[in-house]
Amino acid sequence: MMMTRIIGTGSALPEAVLTNDDMSALVETSDEWIASRTGIRTRHLAGKESGVSMASEAARRAMENAGAHPEEIDLIIVATCSVDNFFPNTACSVQKELGIPNTAAAFDMNVACAGFVYALHTVHAYFLAGIYKKALIVGVEAISRLIDWTDRSTCVLFGDGAGAAVVEPSEEGGVICISQHADGSLGDALVCENREIENPVSKREQQLSYIKMNGQAVFKFAVTRVPECIHEVVDKGGVDINDVSLFLMHQANERILQSVAKRLKVDIAKFPMNLQKYGNTSAASLPILLDEVSREGLLKRGEYVVLSGFGAGLTWGATLLKW
Ligand code: COA
Repeated sequence: MMMTRIIGTGSALPEAVLTNDDMSALVETSDEWIASRTGIRTRHLAGKESGVSMASEAARRAMENAGAHPEEIDLIIVATCSVDNFFPNTACSVQKELGIPNTAAAFDMNVACAGFVYALHTVHAYFLAGIYKKALIVGVEAISRLIDWTDRSTCVLFGDGAGAAVVEPSEEGGVICISQHADGSLGDALVCENREIENPVSKREQQLSYIKMNGQAVFKFAVTRVPECIHEVVDKGGVDINDVSLFLMHQANERILQSVAKRLKVDIAKFPMNLQKYGNTSAASLPILLDEVSREGLLKRGEYVVLSGFGAGLTWGATLLKW
């Protein structure tokens, strides 16, 4: 069976770190409130870094880790919802930074916090069709640019960063099953509007818009849909959920992950977390976590691993991998 194997990972976080106490100097909040509701303690924010610089650095590290040369990469997909530029897309800018030749295709995907799993699934479909042979997948967010720094209900939650993976088709291990879903009818729960249209026939009235979230609606969505899509991939793959070694989840909130683990009747120890350090880095959170657990040696050949992302759209999905 042809699978899509992750052969190298990398990540890059911006230098500046803000603690919860730093946040309480900006808005009326406290370390106690943030840590008890979310698990988050610190977050990294882009200062001199950009989305492109973080994405390129994470990609460079993933390629080094995989031993992959720029000429070998024939597809670059960047998952992001907080681009530096409307165009060129981030993937083309990463291509330029890394000297990947024009034989490669490069595009961005906006599936918010589910971006990395959707990108991995897209590459898997291309590999199954025999179209590409080695791909670079990056999740990156400079999401701090979309945040209202006077809104305590959102500004304490998010952080910037990038993670990347190099993937290739393999018979030995990799993606076994995927599930991905979207429900646009619930999209209002988590929104960041673009600037309004302004042209000779339409006048712009709105000021710049920032992330708006119905926290409780998003919480309920995550704790019901995520266990469902995880069950979907393990059932499709014919794998007993107890035989999965690690559940690598989008790092939004510790309480969401605790609830997902409980609903799946799986020990929370199988859910590694780094949201304490980075907050919610949207599309970057899964590849950053993947890089950390990989470098810590927690991923063992032949073991089953589940990835799952969920977020704005609303969108969600899961991947079953044999490592
Ligand atoms: N510090 C202190 N108080 C805060 C606060 C903050 N940073 N943010 C909100 N509050 C206040 C609210 O104003 C509200 O006060 P009120 O009762 O006087 O109106 C109170 O805390 C409770 O707010 P509520 O929104 O009901 O809290 P909650 O228990 O639902 O927790 C979240 C809020 C955001 C932590 C929680 O809903 C959540 O984690 N949702 C999922 C969000 C998420 O992960 N989104 C991304 C998915 S990709």
